[in-house]
Amino acid sequence: MSRSAHPAGPRHGDVLPEGHYTPPPTDLNELDPRVWARTVTRGEDGTATVAGIPVSRLQEEFGTPAYILDEDDFRARCRAWTDAFSGADVFYAGKAFLSRAVVRWLREEGLNLDVCSGTELAVALDAGMPAERIAFHGNNKTSAEIERAVGAGVGRIVLDSYQEIVRVAHAAREAGKRQRVQIRVTVGVEAHTHEFIATAHEDQKFGLALQDGQAAEAVRRVLGLDSLELTGLHSHIGSQIFDMAGFEVSARRVVGLLRDIRDEHGVELPEIDLGGGLGIAYTSDDDPREPHEIAKALADIVTRECAAAGLTVPRLSVEPGRAIVGPTAFTLYTVGTVKELPGLRTYVSVDGGMSDNIRTALYDAEYSVALVSRVSDAEPMLTRVVGKHCESGDIVVRDAYLPSDLAPGDLIAVPATGAYCRSMANNYNHALRPPVVAVKDGAARVIVRRETEEDLLRLDVG
Ligand SMILES: Cc1ncc(COP(=O)(O)O)c(C=O)c1O
Repeated sequence: MSRSAHPAGPRHGDVLPEGHYTPPPTDLNELDPRVWARTVTRGEDGTATVAGIPVSRLQEEFGTPAYILDEDDFRARCRAWTDAFSGADVFYAGKAFLSRAVVRWLREEGLNLDVCSGTELAVALDAGMPAERIAFHGNNKTSAEIERAVGAGVGRIVLDSYQEIVRVAHAAREAGKRQRVQIRVTVGVEAHTHEFIATAHEDQKFGLALQDGQAAEAVRRVLGLDSLELTGLHSHIGSQIFDMAGFEVSARRVVGLLRDIRDEHGVELPEIDLGGGLGIAYTSDDDPREPHEIAKALADIVTRECAAAGLTVPRLSVEPGRAIVGPTAFTLYTVGTVKELPGLRTYVSVDGGMSDNIRTALYDAEYSVALVSRVSDAEPMLTRVVGKHCESGDIVVRDAYLPSDLAPGDLIAVPATGAYCRSMANNYNHALRPPVVAVKDGAARVIVRRETEEDLLRLDVG
């Protein structure tokens, strides 16, 4: 049974041996630039500010919990990726966080967009992303979604199954179009943070397996259909990856299939997409790579493998989501209760929880946290930051140090919550999903508003 799914009982915490925990940081008031959005700093009175705005003002104006997103940081990260990958294509993975404002920023900064549902596609189109800059993903796209994507003229549909080949070919024929497609190949690499596993098979729902010959069969089928134009192969190997070794294996295997396709069908496919999954710093212990290092490593790998296979180097694309939006936002909470369990830890309850950040409960994700409404010289105390939901696994930050004078009403913030927090937010206990507030040059504006009781009651038609 996984730790996050243990039944309610006395052992809600992990009673670990003394000395297990990393020691407290030397300065609890420091806001480590590696984990906080770029314009976050402390003002003279000790209150944290972002884009020059004190968090206390954000709390007064927008309430808590709230996601605060640094627009300049988002744009700067977009530019860092497009600069690093000049001559290649960067597709922002919309699943990390998508809104109309985000689409506009992406469009202005020259990025492409990866969507994986009809509704993500709707947001992208509504906010004016040119259809040819959109890639459509997903392991079970409905016929209606496919028709919509083909009709809109998306630049790329990434095929994920034999059935989908037929559906997309049919939709394109009906629309009188030739749809550009890639095939998602499952390469037998599972990568996460500093580890990766290379196997012959991969037991997962996405893509068509390379080792079983399914990917090669998919290529055969697609090449036989006039309404589809096969432009390349796609592979995505994991998430929160720091180590490039997994990409090395995946690129070698994908290029091997490109070579087989050339040998069998006499065609050299012009594109290869190595997916997303690049890691970010959630805590000060994380040390992610910069986009230019990643770009160089991937280009070197692909160039080397293509040279070995005697292939022209295809146009490369990547799909970072977390690495662009993750570090640009933090979640602002108000402390509600502080409950000391002598000899164990102190539970700090905030006004949100697993409804606005499910990642800790779902993946045992690690986060850090800081007191942001003031500085404190009090001794550090070991805390667990928890939400207000009726679930003992409702944990936001599993183990973190906060000052021991922390009190109800203080504002605390969890950095690096830009990715997979608002996009995975839910209404457990009829929680109202928090707003996303974009800040820039001393101004703050809501880009996704807070849900209201009326929103929820309107869905509940009795
Ligand atoms: C196909 C594909 N591309 C890109 C991504 C984005 O991953 P990340 O946000 O970790 O970069 C994902 C995430 O699941 C994915 O499945």
